[in-house]
Amino acid sequence: MRGNLIAALDIGTTKTCAVIGDLSPDLQRRPALKVLGVGQSRTSGMRREVVTHIEETTESVRKAIKEAELMAGVTVDRVYTGIAGEHIQASPSVGVVAVGGEEVVAQDVSRVHEVARAVALPPDRELLHAIPQEYKVDHQGGIKDPLGMAGTRLEAEVYLVTSASASTTNIRKAVSRAGYRIQELVLEPLASSRAVLTEDEKEVGVAMVEIGGGSTDLAVFYEGKIRHVAILPFGGLTVTNDLVKGLSVPFAEAQKAKEQHGAAFAQMVDPQETVELPGPGPGQRRHVARELVAHIVEQRLDEMFGLVQEELEGADLLDKLGAGIVLTGGTTALPGTVELAQQVFAAPVRVGSPGEGLTGLADSLAFPRFATVAGLALYGADRFRETGEGASTLTSGLVTKIVAWLKEFF
Ligand SMILES: Nc1ncnc2c1ncn2[C@@H]1O[C@H](COP(=O)(O)OP(=O)(O)OP(=O)(O)O)[C@@H](O)[C@H]1O
Ligand SMILES: [Mg+2]
Repeated sequence: MRGNLIAALDIGTTKTCAVIGDLSPDLQRRPALKVLGVGQSRTSGMRREVVTHIEETTESVRKAIKEAELMAGVTVDRVYTGIAGEHIQASPSVGVVAVGGEEVVAQDVSRVHEVARAVALPPDRELLHAIPQEYKVDHQGGIKDPLGMAGTRLEAEVYLVTSASASTTNIRKAVSRAGYRIQELVLEPLASSRAVLTEDEKEVGVAMVEIGGGSTDLAVFYEGKIRHVAILPFGGLTVTNDLVKGLSVPFAEAQKAKEQHGAAFAQMVDPQETVELPGPGPGQRRHVARELVAHIVEQRLDEMFGLVQEELEGADLLDKLGAGIVLTGGTTALPGTVELAQQVFAAPVRVGSPGEGLTGLADSLAFPRFATVAGLALYGADRFRETGEGASTLTSGLVTKIVAWLKEFF
């Protein structure tokens, strides 16, 4: 049996996860990717989405992919890998070429892309994406696909995303030391958007706000185009650190209190309810009002949403969000997040969880914290359908076992 496997890897600040999906020839025509395996490990060696300790990150990567391989009963050799961090920069760029013949052919399109992406990058930066936005043929704009159109002048607008070379090098090192190859580095908010936004939302105007552990990632779409990307330096860990100070408890206890009893909208919490926390002496316990926990969480999240709003305002996009805000990322598991966001943004807000476009074990990915990894897998599937490249080969069970056995040794 031969087939095609798409593998995705998200190295987040708090957790690393991997997904393996099947795109065998009989499944390629279908719109969905069949999820075969999901793996997860705690991330170590990363700070705010940047590798700080290669050996530790390598171990997290190895564990997550191995777990996914074990669940899927297959092995993979290449992975679509997410990248984010404050070093990411993005901006639109335009290229123009003369059309060779009577009408636009594929060669003209690839030439105009080349021109649009030919910006001089300093040696410490790398081009991640050149996303085609729209084309103009003889000054007629708004064209999504110019092939076959008559004209003499072709203009392309692309959205360029670049990253610091040092960051990409470290991610590459960690993944290759774990025994895998990076098929493509993909901007995380772009991947998450692929998983949780609809085409309609992107057309009408929408901001995807992913609140992870170390950062809050933002991607804004309007008229079907990507308009803005930002990686903001705060997330769920910022909230936990407030609880550490506000409740005078160690980090692990604060995290537990947040995840088990936290709420983003203090008004929603029963004032009688209490949360048990460690007391001042060894073995002692004490009770605090759940309202207090919620109050601390709400204050910080409110401030974070305020900063997101400022970012949207700065990019002049606040009035272009007809479909409002789609929240995702692990922190949106806090009850009341939607209500708080509605109050801050005065716009429609929903939580986005992956599911659309996935079958098989899709249920195990249907949580906001898996938006990035699910989106990476969908991105990989899109790529494979377009180019026929980027998949690992699905081999028979016996070969898989031998490869897995050999990998244990090396
Ligand atoms: N049930 C829950 N309630 C509240 N917070 C939660 C819950 N589950 C997870 N979180 C928080 O979500 C955050 C992790 O989110 P996520 O998994 O999206 O981040 P990440 O991908 O590891 O980090 P990043 O994307 O910032 O690099 C942590 O701060 C964690 O405490
Ligand atoms: Mg993440």
